[in-house]
Amino acid sequence: MERIYGKPLLTQEEIRKRVKDLGRQITVDYEGKDLLMIGVLKGAYNFFSDLTRAIMLPVRIDFIIATSYGMATQTSGIVRIISDLTEDIAGQDVLLVDDIIDSGITTDFLKKHVLQKRPGRLKTCVLLDKKERRKVEIEADYVGFSIPNKYVVGYGLDYKNKYRNLPYIAVLDVNVES
Ligand code: IMP
Ligand code: MG
Repeated sequence: MERIYGKPLLTQEEIRKRVKDLGRQITVDYEGKDLLMIGVLKGAYNFFSDLTRAIMLPVRIDFIIATSYGMATQTSGIVRIISDLTEDIAGQDVLLVDDIIDSGITTDFLKKHVLQKRPGRLKTCVLLDKKERRKVEIEADYVGFSIPNKYVVGYGLDYKNKYRNLPYIAVLDVNVES
């Protein structure tokens, strides 16, 4: 699988360190609070799993399965919820965790969707941020890395639902993808 990529954009070690730091920061920020973390599938599955284990609090977890892309590398602009939360989040401290903010459309949509369920406080956390590509004015409360305007795969992020299991993050070379 590695043969189609150049050097990793973010190595396993860099990701591991940053996730640990984020976990430490979230632990401090939510000390004494009852935190419910929502993972956005499929893209956040690795990040969410590692992040929850870097937080030294008895968090509760839930998932939303959402989709915004067809099979392309550009957002369709239409986000669909395939599977919704199983927990009642009314009045709760909630942290929504996704893989990446690109245009911002997905995060914006999911924030509004979750806010309709009346959480006490909602914050967002993303591993990656492609600031250059924003179409909706939105920022995450916690960001792992800001990255350049390149299509990346690995550590949960996909191209046509492949390469999610690459253990680091690499820029996809679409020319050699097959
Ligand atoms: P947005 O709605 O344009 O912000 O896109 C957010 C979603 O698009 C993310 O949750 C990803 O699933 C996907 N996405 C955006 N950029 C990339 C990328 O570089 N690689 C893989 N998926 C991406
Ligand atoms: Mg995604």
